[in-house]
Amino acid sequence: MRILVTGGAGYIGSVTVEMLLASGHGVVVLDNLTRGHREAVAREARFVQGDVRETESVAGLLGEERIDCVMHFCASSLVGESMAHPERYFTNNVTGMVSLLDAMTAANVPRIIFSSSAAVYGEPEQVPIEEEASVRPTNPYGETKAIAERLLSWMRQVHGLRYATLRYFNAAGASQERGEDHTPETHLIPLALAAAAGESPPLPVFGRDYPTPDGTCVRDYIHVRDLAAAHIRALERLDSLEETTFNLGNGAGYSVLEVIRSVERVTGRPVPVEDAPRRAGDPARLVASSARARAALGWDPQLGELDRIVSDAWQWKLRFPRGYAS
Ligand code: NAD
Ligand code: UFG
Repeated sequence: MRILVTGGAGYIGSVTVEMLLASGHGVVVLDNLTRGHREAVAREARFVQGDVRETESVAGLLGEERIDCVMHFCASSLVGESMAHPERYFTNNVTGMVSLLDAMTAANVPRIIFSSSAAVYGEPEQVPIEEEASVRPTNPYGETKAIAERLLSWMRQVHGLRYATLRYFNAAGASQERGEDHTPETHLIPLALAAAAGESPPLPVFGRDYPTPDGTCVRDYIHVRDLAAAHIRALERLDSLEETTFNLGNGAGYSVLEVIRSVERVTGRPVPVEDAPRRAGDPARLVASSARARAALGWDPQLGELDRIVSDAWQWKLRFPRGYAS
């Protein structure tokens, strides 16, 4: 199939592009490069620098490239930043989705796979979290994803749009060639690796008074290649799926301190840390039940061990010490 990947110069998008190409699909990447890297886009894909909110150009691109399905990764996606600048999140993520759907309708593109997030759940009543759990985001970022999901649901009812919403938990790890290179970097694993490498000041541990076994937040880390594989499964089965919404995680929760210990094991170096206040908007525990994705998509994550995930991120960092600038 011919796929338009929005945000395909970013972290998860670029790894998915690599795996789509390896599966024989044709790929066009649209990215405005505000957070992504031109170097992250595989050479076999066509790259178009542009913004998803430019509806007419996107509609033109969809038609010209005879796109069968859109994978919509592009978004602003940092919980902390969204608590400081909610308006930027609504502008980019909600307006971006409206514009894209408008363009897809104009160009008669009937399918979309959407990057949603565990952040839609807010503070869950039960873990592991199932897809039927309440959607009650505790930060504007999660709210924008929840609104985008509602838009998709209406587009299906009114226009018959085929879609899958993939709610990722915490993406981590790397492929051989592509990894996590954000400016600013705010994610735990790359920051802990930088601290272990002696490149940064002590790692702040945001809150030690959460209602979790060691008092630090618990997350479900999922390998970026397993996420990419789920997109390919969803693409292959999209026309026959009964459900629309799927959690993607390993079903295992690790605290901030457990992640730090994993980084120390993998790198063989200490991670200097310092206590810091809670970060606004952080839920205490986010752990997925991915039973639905396993059953309906036939998805079977292969790289679920935390040390394996951290090790792949570390290997990428050793190969590309300055990220895509290397
Ligand atoms: P990323 O920031 O690395 O990639 C996003 C890309 O989108 C960047 O290349 C950026 O330049 C581009 N972009 C942003 N706004 C754009 C616009 N208006 N027009 C065109 N391009 C634009 O992010 P990521 O970590 O790869 O995340 C990808 C998606 O997955 C996001 O939608 C994010 O919300 C979601 N997600 C990520 C995680 C995670 O742990 N990283 C977890 C859950 C959900
Ligand atoms: N953390 C620290 N110190 C740091 C950085 C992070 O203690 O320097 C903690 C955070 O407070 C949080 C945990 O490490 O408890 C993980 O934080 P990340 O910033 O790595 O990831 P988030 O859980 O905030 O968010 C990520 C993605 C979101 C996605 C979410 C789903 O950025 O897009 O996972 O669980 F929605």
